[in-house]
Amino acid sequence: MQPISLSRFLIEQQRLPESPCPAELRLLIETVARACKAISHAISKGALGDVLGSLKSENVQGEVQKKLDVIANDLLLDANEWGGHLAGMASEEMETIHPIPNRYPKGEYLLLFDPIDGSSNVDVDLSVGTIFSVVRAPEACAGREVVEADFLQPGRNQVAAGYAIYGPQTLLVLTIGAGVYEFTLEREIGSWRLTDGPMRIPTGTREFAINMARRPQWSPAVARYVEDRLLGSAGPCGHDYNMRWTASMVADVHRILKRGGVFLYPADHRTPGKARLRLLYEANPMSLLIEQAGGASSDGSAAILDIDPVSLHQRVGVVMGDKEEVAALHRP
Ligand code: F6P
Ligand code: MN
Repeated sequence: MQPISLSRFLIEQQRLPESPCPAELRLLIETVARACKAISHAISKGALGDVLGSLKSENVQGEVQKKLDVIANDLLLDANEWGGHLAGMASEEMETIHPIPNRYPKGEYLLLFDPIDGSSNVDVDLSVGTIFSVVRAPEACAGREVVEADFLQPGRNQVAAGYAIYGPQTLLVLTIGAGVYEFTLEREIGSWRLTDGPMRIPTGTREFAINMARRPQWSPAVARYVEDRLLGSAGPCGHDYNMRWTASMVADVHRILKRGGVFLYPADHRTPGKARLRLLYEANPMSLLIEQAGGASSDGSAAILDIDPVSLHQRVGVVMGDKEEVAALHRP
């Protein structure tokens, strides 16, 4: 028998008593998933579709934009603007928020996304992804246009989060706050099929992911954590470890959901507030997925999901994955 489709999965969730998935949220997730299919299609054309390489523009983070960053951002905006389930959107690629234009009906949700995570990988044919997060618009914004402050909600408020990964297979990994589920894109008929879940992070996997070239930025705690593992069976851990780094958070976190281990992109301990990953559309959605799969996620001292954001593109240090490994980093 064929695995069930994303639509059927969401409708069955909607029918549950105390459903975590009201109809509007289902429509929103299906719309995001549809945009991810279009992104997957664009990526797979590569040089033949003239989608590789960079533009002359920079995004708000001062990063050179890849053609695909802009293509994917536009696909997500266009797909989600008119359906009536959103009050506004925010993206890594846009300086400020995108309220739903007045010509369309407005809904109760806010959507935040990183259209192409790990985009430097696109040109060398390695995995990239789309990360998304959904929160409810605060009640106070009923009847007025949403403003940036409405988006500044702690990750615990997320009602859905997920990513699409464009790799050897195109997958959608999703949580609506009740477990983590993986869907594989069946390209011939354009359907997402349930292929794993509820996913649990395998424990005890001795694998860590970190960019070693950032060593000068590490705090003493992070440096000790990594050095202990590099010593392998001769060191305090008593085991050999493997190291992996794909420079695409989606790919590294996906590996952890499937195979275990830990992912670290610590803040620069020399400069307060300086870090690589963005809280609202990278760290928060990934943290909800990781926690829902039995793992832990921290900024180095406290749970990422409990952080009260102060700005849209705020950055944060990240340690996420196997609970034991995250706890080991916290131990004095
Ligand atoms: O979005 C930021 C990102 O591309 C992540 O996907 C990835 O984990 C990280 O940056 C890679 O950073 P670096 O260039 O330091 O390896
Ligand atoms: Mn990213």
